[in-house]
Amino acid sequence: MTGHETTDVLVVGAGIGGLAAALAAAREGRDVLVATKSTRPEGASSWWAQGGIAVARDDRAQFRRDIVAASDGTADLDAVETLVENANEAVSDVLVDTLGVSFDGDAAASDGSTETSLTAGDGDGGFDFGREAAHSEDRILHVGAATGKHVHVPFLNHLDDRDGVEIRTDAAALELIRHEGRVHGAVVESGGERAPVYAGATVLATGGIGDLFPRSTNPAGATGDGIGMAALAGADVTDMEYVQYHPTAYAADGDEDGFLVSEAVRGEGAVLRNGDGERFMPAYHEDAELAPRDVVSRAVAAERRATGEVLLDVSPLDFAGEFPGLAEKCADRGVDPTDGIPVAPAEHFLCGGVAVDDRGRTSLDGLYAVGECACTGLHGANRLASTSLLEGLVWGLRAGADASRGDGDDPERVAPPELLDRDPALPDDFARQKFRRLRRVTDECVGIERDPDELRRALGVLRRLKGEVDSYVRTRTSRSLYELRNATVTGLLVTRHALANDESVGTHYRLDEGEATEPRPTADD
Ligand code: SIN
Repeated sequence: MTGHETTDVLVVGAGIGGLAAALAAAREGRDVLVATKSTRPEGASSWWAQGGIAVARDDRAQFRRDIVAASDGTADLDAVETLVENANEAVSDVLVDTLGVSFDGDAAASDGSTETSLTAGDGDGGFDFGREAAHSEDRILHVGAATGKHVHVPFLNHLDDRDGVEIRTDAAALELIRHEGRVHGAVVESGGERAPVYAGATVLATGGIGDLFPRSTNPAGATGDGIGMAALAGADVTDMEYVQYHPTAYAADGDEDGFLVSEAVRGEGAVLRNGDGERFMPAYHEDAELAPRDVVSRAVAAERRATGEVLLDVSPLDFAGEFPGLAEKCADRGVDPTDGIPVAPAEHFLCGGVAVDDRGRTSLDGLYAVGECACTGLHGANRLASTSLLEGLVWGLRAGADASRGDGDDPERVAPPELLDRDPALPDDFARQKFRRLRRVTDECVGIERDPDELRRALGVLRRLKGEVDSYVRTRTSRSLYELRNATVTGLLVTRHALANDESVGTHYRLDEGEATEPRPTADD
């Protein structure tokens, strides 16, 4: 290990939650180091967000009810209150005023006229609010269907120009520095060197767990790092069984890359048809294609099993005009959207994570978690569409402000964990091979519908894998090995929590409690 660094606030990860935490801490005059293992903005899930960011329009009570209903009644009501009451101010202050994001329909941004109201309706000179599944009103701010990058890139640029903030790319946190129940920073690998970064507060913002699954809408590198590191340091982790699948990812063939086909497309009128050409969702739920995601995902999986494929029929809308980016992705794969887009469920979002309070504080002093790696309780067992960027923003700001409360003294330099490099014999593709095994077992045993015997099988495989990884970690340090370790710990937590919870709710569907989702007769039968 070489030298060491100190900072007031270390943020690990550079999605919207981490950037919001960095901004809040910088506004308090703190020095902030944002360490991200990515080398490009596209490495963060926030960049990929399509649909948008929900805000509270006139009827806040209805927004609360929609979040709770989508969660199957399991959302934490205090967390819902925190989100809804802080949503508009956070969006106006940071996204509109500070970053200058120009959401669709924003008259003020396009003609410099009066401020556009977050509560005004369409046609009142207000934003062009979108609708997605399980929202009972149009309340989603968006920039086309590529909202994430229009928020994320200006956010990175703003912080890059801000005194006191450094965003360091290709910088992976390997392990937290912990002493007597307090976290003092992390060992960070950057440019081939490893060094402890001591921090008054450490904010985990490492995103999701898509790399644990063979099909995911997350970018590569979503290996559950924050959750794995926090769990190994002894922080509480909760609700890990609630893994949300998105019902309409492009059903990639062979080596093709998949991509998300935003729920906004169904919000604009697209319908789902099975391999026999039948529209099936009305038989599963009264809200049909706009039912909660878990319901639509299980129905799509069942219809694919029964009829071979499911197509998203975009003929009710001007697909190429309204969703040019998606039309381009279809064209790249030789898909003519007028024939329907083949879709399948893919892992999308982890509702659980490192347990935090309303300021992003974990159970360990000095350690915060925000964004997808955190569990605020907001989503309960199932997340409402377009609330993830908002949650990251609101909790990021709160965590960054709280993390700045200390007196700014030099962070304590306790002994960092010893990361060893004694055994050069780690096979080159060791992590790649083990990741394949990990994904195979999550696919077979810890997917949309869960059988307890299969969950037990997964537990056995993952325990053995953890044993192998641990024995390498005792003698060898490499970024890919640590990612594998984090992914294995995270996979074990998902599996253990899924086994411990025998109640089917939201995204967690136990086959010993209910039947496998069978295709139901269509409304026309
Ligand atoms: C989508 O655009 O369908 C994804 C939005 C979300 O996950 O909230």
